[in-house]
Amino acid sequence: MIIAPSILAADFANLGRDIEMLNRSEAQWIHCDVMDGVFVPNISFGFPVIKSVAGLTDKPLDVHLMIVNPQNYIGQVRDCGAALMNVHQEACTHLHRTVQAIKAAGMKAAVTLNPSTPVIMLEDIIADLDMVLLMSVNPGFGGQAFIENTVAKVGRLRQLIEASGSKALIEVDGGVNAQTAPILARGGVDVMVSGSAVFNAPDPLKAIAELVAL
Ligand code: DX5
Ligand code: ZN
Repeated sequence: MIIAPSILAADFANLGRDIEMLNRSEAQWIHCDVMDGVFVPNISFGFPVIKSVAGLTDKPLDVHLMIVNPQNYIGQVRDCGAALMNVHQEACTHLHRTVQAIKAAGMKAAVTLNPSTPVIMLEDIIADLDMVLLMSVNPGFGGQAFIENTVAKVGRLRQLIEASGSKALIEVDGGVNAQTAPILARGGVDVMVSGSAVFNAPDPLKAIAELVAL
């Protein structure tokens, strides 16, 4: 299982220390949550922080943009060292154009769906995607409860991917912990984001190792 710890739950006063911990961990990617206070009711951090993180790690950065008009920031996301750029379907009027622009900039393109957005919204773009991120909480905050419907949604997304011949990975974000992660793993998820369950664990390295082993 690919695990992408979300640094939204890190200690921002000791972010370098927390990135060093992730470097020593088995986590394959690092997930960076950008919030603008418009698309979601919260504000997190922006490109200078991501650039600093990129300077401290060789792990691919999975940048999740919970912002309006994400197409305006493709160059900045690339320049701060992102490997994957996640844009919300709900934030993109011209999603096809945005996906092509992300790929042309040299990044992997991922599209994120809110809990209430059906997977069929991606039917005509799925073949072009490197990954689909299913939100298993309403985006904006860490530490929320997992929305159970996500498990059935993963199955519907898998069918859509197989029907189209897409190579897209399935990522899930929100409320992923020791209880929900095994269910997701059995359901065919490829990548799991985890914030509070990793950083609030007594031993984050062990918590990550247990998720990777699923
Ligand atoms: C929520 C963010 C998540 C968040 C997950 O809007 O997209 O990445 O950090 O946090 P947990 O794992 O605590 O639900
Ligand atoms: Zn996220």
